[in-house]
Amino acid sequence: MSSHGPAVPLTSRAGGALSGVAHVPGDKSISHRALILGALSVGETVVTGLLEGQDVLDTAAAMRALGAEATRDDDGTWRVHGVGVGGFAEPARVIDCGNSGTGVRLIMGAMATCPITATFTGDASLNKRPMARVTDPLALFGAQTVGRAGGRLPMTIRGAENPVPVRYAVPVPSAQVKSAVLLAGLNAPGQTVVIEREATRDHTERMLAGFGAEIVTEKTDEGRVITLTGRPELRPQTIVVPRDPSSAAFPVCAALIVPGSDVLVPNIGLNPTRAGLFFTLQEMGADLAFENMREEGGEPVADLRARYSPALAGVEVPAERAASMIDEYPVLSVVAAFATGKTHMPGVKELRVKESDRIDAMATGLRAAGIAVDEGEDWWTVHGRGHGAVPGGVTVQTHLDHRIAMSFLVLGLASTAPMTVDDGGPIATSFPVFGPLMAELGAVIEG
Ligand code: S3P
Repeated sequence: MSSHGPAVPLTSRAGGALSGVAHVPGDKSISHRALILGALSVGETVVTGLLEGQDVLDTAAAMRALGAEATRDDDGTWRVHGVGVGGFAEPARVIDCGNSGTGVRLIMGAMATCPITATFTGDASLNKRPMARVTDPLALFGAQTVGRAGGRLPMTIRGAENPVPVRYAVPVPSAQVKSAVLLAGLNAPGQTVVIEREATRDHTERMLAGFGAEIVTEKTDEGRVITLTGRPELRPQTIVVPRDPSSAAFPVCAALIVPGSDVLVPNIGLNPTRAGLFFTLQEMGADLAFENMREEGGEPVADLRARYSPALAGVEVPAERAASMIDEYPVLSVVAAFATGKTHMPGVKELRVKESDRIDAMATGLRAAGIAVDEGEDWWTVHGRGHGAVPGGVTVQTHLDHRIAMSFLVLGLASTAPMTVDDGGPIATSFPVFGPLMAELGAVIEG
């Protein structure tokens, strides 16, 4: 949806300790991919635990527009009847991916080697984000694109009539770009090779293998070299979506900074390409345990137990870890405000092209809330003030960015004065039950 209606200001304030069990929703990255790969299979894919956030619902609508069936049973099970690799039909209307960079970029990839034309748009945030990073490699397959200046949406893609396979070194650390190229490669004959210097989330590779594609990843001096054999017949799957570590980050970080808290967040996917935040928090002195470690559906899973952590200390976050926690820097910077000393975060240029410029949005709001922040193009440093010493007491702008909204609401649960976000509406894109879930733990967040 290209707009979520009137802005919804929300205010959080310090109350008692947070306690209880927080069942966060399904993983957003895996949910998008489950729908898209289901739509490219022949037969019925059954998905449980799908994230029913607006981003994913927009991807479901896009799959329908491209000819697949995607339906929801009353018990929340999703069924996708796919059209097969190369089987997408030309959509009769514009595909609106709302706020979702993942949705639009992966769908562009999946249709770029089909002989159809599709026009994509999004909300005010998505229509500002760079798309050339995806359309450049898609052009190598033979797809043609017409978009706004600077490679922005709205944009029309004419898929390749006779696609050719490509070999592409991804110039930015982006799982969305990697995935768009792999999904395009599905309907190209021969082998498509994607090379990534830094490992980014690998759900597309794992899930493509699960759907029966021939895909091999080799670690070489160039980085990870991923080879996909085109034109497979994807076999429908039964998918249980693990719960989202990026959503778990909010109740976990809130528990660490609110005195007396003890929160359990069960069944969290801990794929190593996603789990960087939790190791960083442990290095800061967080009382955070991984309980009941196990494997489910090919992904490592654990229950996270987070308790108030009186002695948090700032750290240097290794640049090499950035890709595995890229969505968690906003909430990490909140924890850093309650730590003593500096938290330095280098190698994070990609934060500037997320749903908002996340370094700018967080730095501006943290400074207003009384925290010193230094920043450069690809780094930032938060100067922590320690527990009980974060003033808060301001209204911040969230720029249509769900993670900025949730991060400042977490900050307000432990700052001296309440925090208000100008618009909590976008939280529904990834974590529609954030409000009730946090209230159940004892958090005071009001509209
Ligand atoms: C995602 C990849 C990341 C991440 C986004 C989800 C994905 O984006 O920020 O929330 O599901 O592939 P980039 O690939 O642009 O880093």
